[in-house]
Amino acid sequence: MYRIAPSILSADFARLGEEVRAVIAAGADWIHFDVMDNHYVPNLTIGPAVAQALKPHCVKADGSKVPLDVHLMVQPVDALAQLFAQAGADLISFHPDASIHVDRTLQLIHAAGCQAGLVFNPAAPLEVLEWTIDKVDLVLIMSVNPGFGGQGFIDSALRKVEQARRLIERSGREIRLEVDGGIKVDNIARVAAAGADTFVAGSAIFGQRDYKAVIDAMRAELAAPLARAA
Ligand code: DX5
Ligand code: ZN
Repeated sequence: MYRIAPSILSADFARLGEEVRAVIAAGADWIHFDVMDNHYVPNLTIGPAVAQALKPHCVKADGSKVPLDVHLMVQPVDALAQLFAQAGADLISFHPDASIHVDRTLQLIHAAGCQAGLVFNPAAPLEVLEWTIDKVDLVLIMSVNPGFGGQGFIDSALRKVEQARRLIERSGREIRLEVDGGIKVDNIARVAAAGADTFVAGSAIFGQRDYKAVIDAMRAELAAPLARAA
């Protein structure tokens, strides 16, 4: 039930296809793809052409597909969301404050054949979920301010994860609860105990030589989250 989603933001950009294959062989469940536009966030990364080029690499050895989890840190959202859908994204999430018409953007992502997610910055409330949860497949809680890998985990995200978990339970819908930023082997159990089921990790995985050792250690922590947190 838990998913580990390595963020390729911290991968070697000169060898992205190889990096994606390596991290999938090491046990990645999803590939997290960070899109930054130097407008919504003060950094610039990769676009739909790169997603399209990586898509054929998002497969496990047994032939099963690994979802491409596109995290849009861009403003405006709609046109790029559609381009990423065409490029092969499976899930597309965006920051509600970056879209003027959040409900329309969610509809548009579904119409393009993808699952849709809303992303909440560290200082953002979850209010918009009250009106959109019936159209949301993924809630992504930021535990760092978006824009860069390798930042420290902001603890108040844990309370927000707990709140998001309650809202998801109340909706009765199948919605994944993902957390992004500063996740490491030594805090992943606390994040799971707060209610998250999907974990983005960039520098923690790509910053080590042995990706499998990190992912295995994360899974071992997840095997007994409550025991660990107690
Ligand atoms: C930050 C990105 C994250 C980032 C996480 O804006 O959304 O996905 O890559 O990196 P780490 O795990 O290093 O905090
Ligand atoms: Zn991200």
